[in-house]
Amino acid sequence: MNSEAPNPLVLFMPSGKRGRFPIGTPILDAARSLGVYVESVCGGRATCGRCQIEIQEGNFAKHKIVSSLDHISAKGPKEERYERVRGLPEGRRLSCSATVQGDLVVDVPQDTVINAQIIRKAATDRVIERNPAIQMCYVEVDEPDMHKPLGDLDRLKAVLAKDWGWKDLRVAQHLIPEVQKILRKENWAVTAAIHKDMELSRATVIALYPGLKNEAYGIACDIGSTTIAMHLVSLLSGRVVASSGAPNPQIRFGEDVMSRVSYVMMNPDGREAMTKAVHEAVNGLIGKVCGEGGVDRNDIFDSVFVCNPIMHHLFLGIDPTELGQAPFALAVSGAVQGWAHDIGIEVNRGARFYVLPCIAGHVGADAAGATLSEGPYRQDKMMLLVDVGTNAEIVLGKRGHVVAASSPTGPAFEGAEISSGQRAAPGAIERVRIDPVTYEPKYRVIGVDKWSDEEGFEEAAKTTGVTGICGSAIIEVVAEMYLSGLISEDGVIDGALAAATPRIFQNGRTFSYLLRESRDGGPRISVTQNDIRAIQLAKAALYAGTKLLMEKQGITEVDTIRFAGAFGSFIDPKYAMVLGLIPDCDLDEVKAVGNAAGTGALMALLNRDHRREIEREVASIDKIETALEPDFQQLFINAMALPNKVDSFPKLRTVVKMPESKLADAGLAGVDNAPRRRSREERAARRRGG
Ligand code: FES
Repeated sequence: MNSEAPNPLVLFMPSGKRGRFPIGTPILDAARSLGVYVESVCGGRATCGRCQIEIQEGNFAKHKIVSSLDHISAKGPKEERYERVRGLPEGRRLSCSATVQGDLVVDVPQDTVINAQIIRKAATDRVIERNPAIQMCYVEVDEPDMHKPLGDLDRLKAVLAKDWGWKDLRVAQHLIPEVQKILRKENWAVTAAIHKDMELSRATVIALYPGLKNEAYGIACDIGSTTIAMHLVSLLSGRVVASSGAPNPQIRFGEDVMSRVSYVMMNPDGREAMTKAVHEAVNGLIGKVCGEGGVDRNDIFDSVFVCNPIMHHLFLGIDPTELGQAPFALAVSGAVQGWAHDIGIEVNRGARFYVLPCIAGHVGADAAGATLSEGPYRQDKMMLLVDVGTNAEIVLGKRGHVVAASSPTGPAFEGAEISSGQRAAPGAIERVRIDPVTYEPKYRVIGVDKWSDEEGFEEAAKTTGVTGICGSAIIEVVAEMYLSGLISEDGVIDGALAAATPRIFQNGRTFSYLLRESRDGGPRISVTQNDIRAIQLAKAALYAGTKLLMEKQGITEVDTIRFAGAFGSFIDPKYAMVLGLIPDCDLDEVKAVGNAAGTGALMALLNRDHRREIEREVASIDKIETALEPDFQQLFINAMALPNKVDSFPKLRTVVKMPESKLADAGLAGVDNAPRRRSREERAARRRGG
């Protein structure tokens, strides 16, 4: 290359950041200068192996780069030694040793950029770059010198400033008595764990190890009212080492969050008992994920939590009484951080915790986590994000304006308040279909592969039993009853059909539908009029809340719908729409996103920029209090009908043959009534023996 030629061009993938660098520049330095996060613990001594990269070879015409292995320096003695001792996967190089010799496309391997658990984000071309709050920094401290009477700790700080650029470092108080011992153990070589996301931006040494400490872990935890879910993650690679869940032991104080608030109000030690219970459960779960991952809990340096507002308060030791009544005042709505040790979390003594901000008194840090994960504010399409639990949390928006509310759906969707309802567990009916001609049902049960009308079902179901109906099946059975004409659009079971099928039977003054006769000692499973009312009330609350947010946004339809939470993972969007649980939308645009709150926690753990992002977004979200909105009542009444008294669901009607309705009679919906007419004729023929 002649002296006139520009410096080589280096492009980093997947970030796409690029720049020109003089020949001989270490690739790690090039990455850093562009703000590309490449891990390094040993500070370029070629001993930690954390800075690995790969060179992509070829002609990248779009970028005007011809990248070749000839454009990177050959392995030097340090890199060769590392390869000999620790091994390097084929194609990998240590970016602290390899230097730029020509144009390059450098791949920062996926396991250091994208987390396996959030890989589905790749489908939306969103790359989660890692930039954790913890950095491990290896240094070799000057030995003490009588002529320069600088303390051991001060010389440690000096070398951290010199080698790593840390200015004005703090050192956690609990480390100070230990420093001298630790420095001498490995001949003045130590690794400092530095937390760089504390208040006032003051980086702090939170742990100190003799020699090279080449691993650091964090936990991301979603504390739900019924279940606590946790990921154990390597902060240095982004790899999820183990994931697990456990029941929230607070259930013994109250099934839902409001009953737990009542427990606090009525028992002098209630708050303390519940805080202790959730801390014990979190600590137990840490033990479990560490056991599964073969990790010492003392190697956990950071933790991120998401939870609903009442769990948030109880976890942080705050009395939640104010959240039990209007105006539902949170003690703190912003993000909370501190020492994990101070709130009883048993990890490294210097570990920190961070709790995402709450959106409002009924829309918690879990909704913030889901919002961070799904990012309506990053979209150009209007996205509806719902997390259905005893309280549905609803977020609606797109780039520029997001609104949020909660709606009291009650526990019906979780199987409570339903005569044959139960939690999703082996033995629970999870899928239901009803023949519109014979009204005979078929169903599937959790833990059994076959449908109930398939041969061998009863035999297969012997191990689990058939014990009740779980939330997803309640949605389906009511929707199927509506589609097959067993219930009217106002949710009334048609008692006249008792003459046509023994499945409809009288139950006091109303009628019920028999799903399964009792057998082998199992329960008789039916759907009562009261069950349908409970589902109508729950779905009307969710829909009315959603409509209110749509009004606030000035829209009549949403572009995409994301169902967060366990419930959302199991319900069939089609049935949710038939029931009028969610607004009309192209069914392909309705997706379950699993534990999005937990994914949000993971993102905030792996990249502290996501903490700033969600803090900023939560501050700008418009919070709507449904109870105070004058329209809510009318929207709720409209939403009691199936699917809705005024909304015609035109998109749904293109894929589902809906029963004829008053709406159809009024010409509001393009319903194809022929199938239903045929069904009636067929039924009549059957009854006549035809
Ligand atoms: Fe440690 Fe390169 S920075 S091996």
